[in-house]
Amino acid sequence: MPTDWEERYQTGDMPWEKGAPSPGLVDFLAADDRPRGTVLVPGCGTGHDVRAWARAGFNATGCDIAPSAIRLAKEQTQAAGLSAEFLLGDFLADPPPRRFDWIFEHTLFCAIDPEQRNDYVAAVHRWLAPGGNYLAVNYLIPDKDGPPFGTTRDELWQRFSPGFDLIKEWVPRSYPNRAGLQLMMWWRERRA
Ligand SMILES: C[S@@+](CC[C@H](N)C(=O)[O-])C[C@H]1O[C@@H](n2cnc3c(N)ncnc32)[C@H](O)[C@@H]1O
Repeated sequence: MPTDWEERYQTGDMPWEKGAPSPGLVDFLAADDRPRGTVLVPGCGTGHDVRAWARAGFNATGCDIAPSAIRLAKEQTQAAGLSAEFLLGDFLADPPPRRFDWIFEHTLFCAIDPEQRNDYVAAVHRWLAPGGNYLAVNYLIPDKDGPPFGTTRDELWQRFSPGFDLIKEWVPRSYPNRAGLQLMMWWRERRA
């Protein structure tokens, strides 16, 4: 049975909502002094990670399939006095309005049905500018009855290494209940 994400927001069934951006992303942005650009956060939820990119000086966009997530993300971004764009849509199926320098993944890959993972990788290529960066906080859990659905480092390597070069991987600082279960991978799309 596919997840009704809008219903989960409307009923407050949102265990992923931590009220703060991914600690691994916060640390990455604090250490990064590269020139800023555009970034897309697919499956952005209420937008904590989008606001972290915006605070760091990026031109940040979030996309989510649930109208309530987009509404909350816009409200919270305005309340924070930040500027970011939020798109209501299906990252896996929609054509991108434009292509992004960065895509940041945080708990969308584990949220979708594993049968949609080929579509997910195709969508990353479609939404990313040629040679763009794909930064992911992966959730390495064994669960098969998600969401969240688990994955392994091997699966991620099989799926992404054909089209991307791995720049760096590391175990990030995490929310307390995910400590030791996350692996950050920073990939750059291989130009044809
Ligand atoms: C587990 S939640 C994570 C939200 C956010 N990334 C966070 O960590 O707080 C997964 C999010 O992905 C969204 N989502 C699921 N399928 C999607 C799709 N095909 N396109 C865009 N968003 C999607 C859901 O509505 C939900 O907000």
